[in-house]
Amino acid sequence: MNFYILLSASVVLVLAIVSLPLLNLNYFLNWQSPSSYPVADLIVRNGVLYTSDESLPFADSMAVRKGRILRVGNYSFVQELAGDVTEELDVGGKIVVPGFIDSHVHLIYGGLQMMQVGLRGVNNKDEFVRIIKEAARSAKQGSWILGGGWNNDAWGGDLPVASWIDDITPFNPVWLSRMDGHMGLANSLALKLAGITNSSEDPKGGTIMRTTNGEPTGLLIDSAMELVVSQIPENTVDERREALLIASNVALMSGVTTVVDMGRYFPAVPADLSWADFSEVYQWAHSLEIMKIRVCLFFPMETWSLLSDLINKMGHSMNQWIYFGGVKAFADGSLGSNSALFYEPYVDEPDNYGLQVTELEVLLNMTLASDLSGLQVAIHAIGDRANDLMLDMYQTVASTNGMRDRRFRIEHAQHLASGTAVRFGNQGVVASVQPDHLLDDADSAIRKLGMDRAVKESYLFGSLLAGNALLAFGSDWPVADINPLRAIKTAVKRIPHAWDHTWIPSECITVDDALKSFTISAARACFLDNDLGSLSPGKLADFVILSVNSWENFATEASASVEATYVSGVQAYP
Ligand SMILES: *[C@@H]1O[C@H](CO)[C@@H](O)[C@H](O)[C@H]1NC(C)=O
Ligand SMILES: *[C@@H]1O[C@H](CO)[C@@H](O)[C@H](O)[C@H]1NC(C)=O
Ligand SMILES: *[C@@H]1O[C@H](CO)[C@@H](O)[C@H](O)[C@H]1NC(C)=O
Repeated sequence: MNFYILLSASVVLVLAIVSLPLLNLNYFLNWQSPSSYPVADLIVRNGVLYTSDESLPFADSMAVRKGRILRVGNYSFVQELAGDVTEELDVGGKIVVPGFIDSHVHLIYGGLQMMQVGLRGVNNKDEFVRIIKEAARSAKQGSWILGGGWNNDAWGGDLPVASWIDDITPFNPVWLSRMDGHMGLANSLALKLAGITNSSEDPKGGTIMRTTNGEPTGLLIDSAMELVVSQIPENTVDERREALLIASNVALMSGVTTVVDMGRYFPAVPADLSWADFSEVYQWAHSLEIMKIRVCLFFPMETWSLLSDLINKMGHSMNQWIYFGGVKAFADGSLGSNSALFYEPYVDEPDNYGLQVTELEVLLNMTLASDLSGLQVAIHAIGDRANDLMLDMYQTVASTNGMRDRRFRIEHAQHLASGTAVRFGNQGVVASVQPDHLLDDADSAIRKLGMDRAVKESYLFGSLLAGNALLAFGSDWPVADINPLRAIKTAVKRIPHAWDHTWIPSECITVDDALKSFTISAARACFLDNDLGSLSPGKLADFVILSVNSWENFATEASASVEATYVSGVQAYP
């Protein structure tokens, strides 16, 4: 008797426990009686919804309520959730994709750069000089002329020198950073203000470029840039706030609804600027409820304990607009500035192997401590040697601190030695890469590394995927434009500027894989996959309507533009 009561009681208990998650799921998906369905605010219908969700890769409709996705499927299924107030959006057969997540931007710098003299796309010296001359005409005497985005590879490789612009800028110090942010040109007045003379020594981790007779040319590489940059008056808070708003609009125009903001884009920038951006710009925008895109913030790794304290106090997110990502450090410089760290020297500079910009022991110490406190770690590594050093170090940290889901990231992973690509998958390290860099870099990689090394090592997206790496795509804006659709095409076609053929065809990937790298994989790469990255019930309703309506065409041509961008189910562009 007692035995049976006990038995039936435990059966009931077991049933209750087993059915609990089902009940929750039912409640969540609202498979109860039709009368208790929650009413959708918005139904998107008549589309080709590419979901990035393996459980239902394509659908034609979806229902949204209070900024989240309620249901995805065919129209009759989704329409069950329609009520009197439901708005219907007929997308006319167009492709709809999850909002793009740009895995690597410098958001406020990008916005600030849009407020400065733009040299992107300039492809000859005369044009370069003309633009600066024009800027000098409208500049107040003594004020700084700031600009960026130049790329000497666009005019055959000759590096600009101060004498190009000294005559036209006698009364204004000038600082023009190269598109990669690892090199900049100062005019002679700026060099003077910075105290850079014939006898100045190169700072650690940087180079003052000189003529053969030892005179500085005006070009400064990596940490040497700080000599001039430290003289430039800081951007005001108002300028940085305006920069955020400008940058957010640029992102939305391209279908980007979330960015991972890596903060400073060269190591010499003081760490407290990242923190000032958080407290003075992001928190300001959040408190006024004018955040337009979601940001996942990474902070300089040497300040890991500040971030750890912040997360303990505030959790990992502020209302799904500001997420606290992790910490970032630099292993090396860049290819364009001959400061990425390689096993073999640069072909155009036979004594130069590149720069290790942070000491290994320091990196190891900071990574161990950050990881132990539960923070995600991202490290910039471009050259083949820098990538191996970081993978080795990540292995050491993982075996020292023990197993956990840590999703270590390498930012750029641009040139990988033979056998390195598979290590990403094996070690579970995220490859956070920027396809559009290859448009500019193919020619310079061939010139700097030689044909053989360039082809074996550069932008190995296919190999990384084949080795099961989590591949997260981004732009590195303002180094390259924020433009996921172009980057997807680049990853699929790999045809550099002014080329008529594919560079390294074996590394091309499919549109499907490229879309995943900008959505669900990018979300996983920063631990945001519970909220973002796919059109799945429960996730935030961020999505993009593309200009095209045939999946077959899109999958082969990889060409489309953005028609509209929605954030939390609300139209944010146009
Ligand atoms: C629509 O979707 C529902 C739920 O997935 C399914 O039961 C139904 O058969 C589908 N209807 C059509 C016409 O495909
Ligand atoms: C720096 O070196 C150049 C070339 O040797 C020379 O012409 C110039 O006068 C020197 N400048 C100073 C301030 O000594
Ligand atoms: C790294 O940490 C160890 C132990 O805490 C310390 O002894 C060492 O000085 C640190 N090294 C550097 C370069 O910070």
